[in-house]
Amino acid sequence: MLDLNRKVLFDQSLERLKAQLYELAEFNETPEHGITRIVYTNRDLAAKHYVKEYMKEIGLEVSEDVMGNIFGKLPGSNSDLPPVWSGSHLDAPLNSGMFDGIVGVLGAIEALRLIKESGLKHERDLVAVIFVSEEPTRFGMGCLGSRAMTNQLSSEDLVKLKDKDGISLYEAMKRANYRPDKLEQVRIKQGEIGMFVELHIEQGPVLETNQKEIGIVNVIAAPTEVKLTIKGEQRHAGSTPMNLRKDPMPAAAEILLTLETWAKDSTKAHTVFTVGDLKVFPGASNVIPNEVVMTIDSRDADGENKEKFMALLNEVIQAVCAKRGVSYELEVKTHDQPAQADSLITNTIKKVCEELKMDHQVLASGAYHDSMIMSKIVPFGMIFIPSRDGISHDAREWTEFKQVASGVQVLTNTLYQLANEGVGSNE
Ligand code: GLV
Ligand code: MN
Ligand code: MN
Repeated sequence: MLDLNRKVLFDQSLERLKAQLYELAEFNETPEHGITRIVYTNRDLAAKHYVKEYMKEIGLEVSEDVMGNIFGKLPGSNSDLPPVWSGSHLDAPLNSGMFDGIVGVLGAIEALRLIKESGLKHERDLVAVIFVSEEPTRFGMGCLGSRAMTNQLSSEDLVKLKDKDGISLYEAMKRANYRPDKLEQVRIKQGEIGMFVELHIEQGPVLETNQKEIGIVNVIAAPTEVKLTIKGEQRHAGSTPMNLRKDPMPAAAEILLTLETWAKDSTKAHTVFTVGDLKVFPGASNVIPNEVVMTIDSRDADGENKEKFMALLNEVIQAVCAKRGVSYELEVKTHDQPAQADSLITNTIKKVCEELKMDHQVLASGAYHDSMIMSKIVPFGMIFIPSRDGISHDAREWTEFKQVASGVQVLTNTLYQLANEGVGSNE
């Protein structure tokens, strides 16, 4: 057990993390309106530079792949063993908060710093990682870095995925001086990483409600992200009788309400459904629109229920559009599978919480994380810390710095124990 319980160490961590969280919050495209940090923009690149410099300063071996995923390694005494990774993301969706993702990045680096400074022996290499674009804000698909690492993002995807200005992911990578033509170099083979642990804010109300300091994730609900375009006929809003319209807007509304009702009636605990973006063209009050484009984000921790939702989605869209005489195009951007956390890692986190006398509970993650994608190639575990009022993806997102430091304390001890896992005593 690493003696991070000592108040002086805890207080030092807290002050460092607080300063770094505020400093990173300065890399922001929307000051006064929450945090916005979109992948491959100047601010995103500057934030990454800031963190890379800090990693170097504290003596981590820093590298970056051809896509911009960043690694800070603290070598162990036996680098032949598969390393333990920990990290998260630095990008932030529109007008959001300063903790989502960032806590997992800074927390991993702080943990490595504390382990290094403790002078205690650890066998496996420990690696702090920053994944490219966990948020889907720019290209409509989240977890781009971890998808590329795990062979779930192809060279064709790089060309196909476009931002709102029509710039492809391929082009955006090139403009940021990365190498989309060398995507295969980003891939990581099964077995190359031993374990992955991600620290994150909960982004929901469970821990605060139950007055727990730490959450231990057992499953991550997986998203299905869809872009639906409904096409009708543009006409005069005053002179076109109701029975002679091909209006895509009521079709969108009917689809939305039918799917929302299904999700509300689901008996599964983690079925959710959201339409977070809807655009109407041409977008004038006295014009029947010719096109509606909407996003559909649905999540479930139950794989079978996800498939039921997909079948219903197709059925409802087809029936509603046929009935209303409009046509549609459906693009399924992601259809991920729920990920189960690894029992060895979750048991280690639990043991650490007990050793540190921290109130904890097991819970599911409704939000997705790079862990979900990484689970394809590596066993993972996640540590959650509370979110005030359960708010996230909003400027009011908040976690007390003391709670951040507590999460880092759990992470540090977990990483230290896992770095010695299966290779003899870790006392
Ligand atoms: C990740 O940010 C998510 O939308 O769950
Ligand atoms: Mn997020
Ligand atoms: Mn996140």
